[in-house]
Amino acid sequence: MKKVLIFGVALAFVCTTGMASMCMADKGPAEITLESTVDPGKKPKPATFPHAKHQETLKCADCHHGKDADGKKVAYTEGQKIEKCESCHNSKAGMPKGLETYKNAGHKLCKECHKASGNKELTKCGTCHPKK
Ligand code: HEC
Ligand code: HEC
Ligand code: HEC
Ligand code: HEC
Repeated sequence: MKKVLIFGVALAFVCTTGMASMCMADKGPAEITLESTVDPGKKPKPATFPHAKHQETLKCADCHHGKDADGKKVAYTEGQKIEKCESCHNSKAGMPKGLETYKNAGHKLCKECHKASGNKELTKCGTCHPKK
């Protein structure tokens, strides 16, 4: 425990003295195609996701989180391991209804914010599921 604390303090020091690369979390790909592999629909509907664009205005914690041993959601902490949504949000993981598939979790996160933005374009299916 003490060691962890000392390391944390040392890292905080490094971060404030300008070695930013050591402190920056892996930001992941700039553009991601989201697609279910555990619970795929009969007609797959991949979603396009401009990750980098969302990172410009949102916090990592607005979307990313973890899970504890009891299956409860744990808030995002800087530098945590980021897993695929579907590794938790799948029909075999015992998640609550409405969050038990990639589709439902994706729609809950993505569509609700898009709806709240008031920009009607953003809630259209084709915004995230463009026709090829
Ligand atoms: C804000 C983004 C967004 C909008 C708008 C949206 N979706 Fe999705 N949708 C997703 C995400 C994310 C997933 C999960 C990843 C995937 O499989 O595509 C998903 C998954 C799905 C799936 C499951 C696909 C599969 O292969 O399992 C279907 C079906 C679907 N959406 C239909 C719709 C329909 C119909 C609309 C319009 C009424 C819509 N979506 C609007 C983001 C969106
Ligand atoms: C608007 C929501 C959103 C925000 C904000 C966001 N991300 Fe993501 N991020 C995602 C989604 C969705 C994925 C794709 C997950 C998947 O493939 O299941 C992802 C994927 C990633 C991955 C790759 C994970 C993997 O194994 O494929 C990393 C790393 C990552 N994000 C880091 C970050 C960091 C760091 C921030 C903050 C600077 C951030 N993200 C902000 C939604 C977001
Ligand atoms: C390590 C496991 C894990 C990963 C990875 C994960 N989630 Fe979750 N998520 C959870 C748990 C646990 C809950 C809380 C479920 C409950 O209410 O009991 C949750 C809740 C949610 C909720 C409900 C609103 C809220 O914030 O409580 C949404 C929406 C959601 N997740 C979407 C996503 C998306 C999208 C991704 C990928 C970017 C993702 N989750 C990645 C475990 C995970
Ligand atoms: C907390 C709010 C929020 C969340 C969560 C969110 N978005 Fe967005 N998204 C926005 C806003 C705001 C815009 C418009 C930004 C702009 O045009 O500059 C946008 C734009 C987009 C666009 C259009 C980009 C363009 O170039 O026109 C796509 C596609 C998109 N989001 C997909 C997704 C997907 C898929 C998810 C879930 C994985 C998601 N978004 C989650 C707020 C959000």
